[in-house]
This record gives sequence, structure tokens and C-alpha cells, in this order.
Amino acid sequence: MPKVLFVASEAHPLIKTGGLGDVVGGLPVALAALGADARLLLPAYHDAVAHAGKLKTVAKFQVTGSADQVQLLEGRLPGTRLVTWLIDFPAAYGRPGNPYLDSRGRLWPDNAWRFALLARVAALLALGRTPLKWRPDVVHCHDWQTGLVPALLAQEQQRPATVFTIHNLAYQGLFPHETFVSLGLPPALWSIEGLEFHGQMSFIKGGLAFADRLITVSPTYAREIQTAEFGGGLDGLLRHRADRLTGILNGIDTEVWNPARDPFLAKQYSARRTQGKIHNKRALQQEYHLPVAPKTALIGMVGRLVEQKGIDLVLETLPALMRRPVQLVVLGSGEARFEEALRAHMARYPKRLSVRIGYDEGLAHRIEAGADMFLMPSRFEPCGLNQLYSLRYGTIPIVRRVGGLADTVVDASEENIKNGKATGVVFEEARAGALLAAIGRALALRRNSRRWNQMMRTGMRQDFTWLHSATEYLQLYRQIMRGNRTPPGKRHVSRKKGK
Ligand code: ADP
Ligand code: GLC
Repeated sequence: MPKVLFVASEAHPLIKTGGLGDVVGGLPVALAALGADARLLLPAYHDAVAHAGKLKTVAKFQVTGSADQVQLLEGRLPGTRLVTWLIDFPAAYGRPGNPYLDSRGRLWPDNAWRFALLARVAALLALGRTPLKWRPDVVHCHDWQTGLVPALLAQEQQRPATVFTIHNLAYQGLFPHETFVSLGLPPALWSIEGLEFHGQMSFIKGGLAFADRLITVSPTYAREIQTAEFGGGLDGLLRHRADRLTGILNGIDTEVWNPARDPFLAKQYSARRTQGKIHNKRALQQEYHLPVAPKTALIGMVGRLVEQKGIDLVLETLPALMRRPVQLVVLGSGEARFEEALRAHMARYPKRLSVRIGYDEGLAHRIEAGADMFLMPSRFEPCGLNQLYSLRYGTIPIVRRVGGLADTVVDASEENIKNGKATGVVFEEARAGALLAAIGRALALRRNSRRWNQMMRTGMRQDFTWLHSATEYLQLYRQIMRGNRTPPGKRHVSRKKGK
């Protein structure tokens, strides 16, 4: 069975800002259940240490570019047996709060250095150059924060295989050339075939150009990122590496997201007994200070308030939507302009719209349980987890046909309804009109309670457990361990636009 080192910048329940945390907290545990020796490496952020339980120092060593020693703290991912190493280096990770942003929502100015340190420690561990005895067969990295790991390992003759999962290509980790110089990275990495991206240093290119295998979190997103529309300037490189790129759909933690045993809910319920949902709806209307109205359709939305999630479309739709017989509850945080606009609208429609700005795990569960419909009009969506939680909670997702949303929600077309496959409402265009029409379609469907209940139950019975994805990942690890690696020298030269 393969020995796999997971390297990432967040993992639930230690620290989480979005779906990446859910995946890194879930996938290695599922792999371990299948027999793999999976372990996790993460920065010892102040808040992660606070949630980690018992930790012991298992190694101290020097890392290039830092005068002080790094300590590795060993513990178990809470609630699991998964061995987890936290990199203790207070100057980089000892500050409370978000792993990427300060309390005013600005990127920490030393992020390049902080995540280069994560990569350097990962590479040393992978190469057996720390006092730890354990060495992985595969190093599995996630998103730009770990992009330097495959790049550093590619400089070595004897190294483990590398896998890089793209959770979101829109975040690339771009820094000026001076940062590359100040980090003291191997000069050979500064080239178009390496980390250079239009004169800047790109962390994510380290993963995309150098990892033996590239994965993204849904088959549709794997195709989309090879096009100019979704490729963020990296589509050429991804097309070049298409034979190494696969989409593996994320799973969900069906213990944490289980309406039959969810401790955050007013009342538990299941696909066989959905009546409990009505109690959760009432409780949610009360929690959001909206009129308690069992017949009015309650729409929920949870997520980062950024353009990706189509929050601008929702704002544009609001005046028309608020004339319909609906209530909308929103939980999220993100760009100030969206937070402010939502607050302003809330004052205008106090009986129909209620907004919580912030991050609240329990409330996210209560929205999934209490709402009738869940809105995800994303402009792009690598996988999306919230629609999977909605399906499991019998809350009909209204989604755009994009990325993982297209792969997981089956539209309520006449045909799909007839053959019992429909699970949600899917619309095509990223336009306010299309979104409004989709909500209208959902409202019309809800008037037929037999059809509606059938859709709810079909959704609740879908199997999105980690087992499927973990099995696919395991196959992939085995393939690369058999030596099917990226040959050195067969790398892509990305060309600037117009050339
Ligand atoms: P993304 O990773 O792009 O943000 P996903 O749908 O994959 O989107 O995952 C988002 C995860 O973060 C879900 O588990 C969701 O419940 C959670 N989440 C997002 N925003 C909040 C919030 N404001 N409060 C609580 N949980 C949130
Ligand atoms: C990213 C994506 C989201 C995906 C998550 C986990 O944050 O935006 O679509 O579900 O990663 O892979």
C-alpha cells in the first residue's frame, strides 16, 4: 500500500476557509481506511494548534533560508487516527486568524515566504532529509500554496512521485521576480518552462509544470481549464499536459454532513422521514429574524462572497426576486463591496432577505437543513461542496451548468423527472435573467409537492462518499509508483499571448 504525504495549507477541523479544508480533512482519512499509509503536513498556524489536541515535538532541523530551526509537531487529525505533522515556526505561522489574510482581509505580505517554507519542509521530509524515519512514495500537493513542492522535488534524482490537485486555478500565487530572488530558489527554476509567468513568479506553475500527475476536482473542470475562458492564462500548459491531467470528483464527509445525526440542527431527519425538515425551516426563519412562514419558499446561500460564486448576479436579481413569494438567507464573507451591498438590500427588504456576514460552521449546517432551495449561480466552480451538502439535506440546489455543479446536479427536465433522475434546477448562462428564470422554475416545481418530494429523496439517496474518489486516487498512486513519471526535459514552453 502506498505511503502518501499530503501537503496543504488547510485541513478541517484544524483550520478551514473553504472546500479545500474539507477535502484535505476528508480524502487522506478515506485513503487510510482503504489501507494506504497517508499522513498530513500543514503549517502550525496559531488556530490550528489550538484545535489540534495533544502534540509532541518529533523533529528539529534547519531549513534553507531561515536562521532558526523548524520544529515538527506530531498529533492526530482530531476525530481520526491520521498522523498529522504541523510545522512550528512562529515567525511564519504563529499569528491568529485566517491562514492567508490579516484581520482586515488583506493578504499577509510575507505569504510567498510562508508557503515557500511549507514547500521546503515538505521536500526535506519527502527526501528523508529530516530526523523523521518515515518517507513517502507519493507526495500529494494541493493548490498554489504547495506548488513549489513538485518544482523542488523535480531537481532531485531520487525522489518520490508527485501529484498536484488543482482546487481552484483562479488563485495562482503570483509574486514579483524580486520575491523569487529573495526566496533563494534554484535559479534554474526561473524560466518559461519553470515558474516564470509573464515576468512574475507563479507558485501554481510549480505544480502544473513539474508534478507527475495533475488532478482537478471534477471531470468538467478538467476540460474547462484547458480553454482560454477558464484557463487563467495557463490553458496552454494544461493542454500540453493533458495526458497527465484527470478530473476526480470530490467526496463529502457523510458523518459530518448527515441530517440524521447532525448536532447543529433543531431536528434531525432522513430520506425516509423528511418531516423534520419543516422544524429546521421554522428555526432558521427565527434565527434570521424573518417571518415564520412555512409555505413561503426559503432559499439559502452559503459561501465566499466573491465573483466566482455569482454573488454579483444574485445582487442584480434581487429587486425582481424580492417581488416573488420567497425569502432568502445568506451566510458568507468576502469582498467588502458585496458585503456592503447585501447589507443595504437587507435594510430594504427586511421581511424577505436576511444576511449574516461572517463564518459560522453551525449556521452553514442549519441553512442546508432549513432551506427549501440552495443557490449556487457560480461563474466557475471546480467542484463545489455546498451543492453536495444540499442534495444530502434534501434542499434542492439551483446551480449553473459549470464545473463540478454540472457533474453533480441533474436538471429537472421533463425527461429527468419522468425517469426519477432529477435532483435540482440547472441553468446555462451567467446572467441575472437566466438566474431569475431558474428560480422561477424551482418555484413552479415546488407547487407540485409529489414531484418536489421525489426530487428531494433522489438527491438524498445520492452517494457522494469519499470511497469512490479515494479508490480512484489510490489507482493513480499505484500507476505512478510503477514508474510512469514525468521525464525530465519533456516540459512545456508556454508562450505569451500573441506569439
Ligand atoms: P469554495 O471552496 O470555493 O469556497 P466549496 O463549495 O467547495 O466552495 O466549499 C465551501 C465550504 O466552506 C463548505 O464546507 C461551506 O459550508 C464552507 N463555508 C463557506 N463559507 C462559509 C461561511 N461563511 N460559514 C461557514 N461555512 C462556510
Ligand atoms: C475550491 C473550489 C471548489 C472546490 C474546493 C474543494 O475552493 O472553489 O469548487 O469544491 O476547492 O476542492
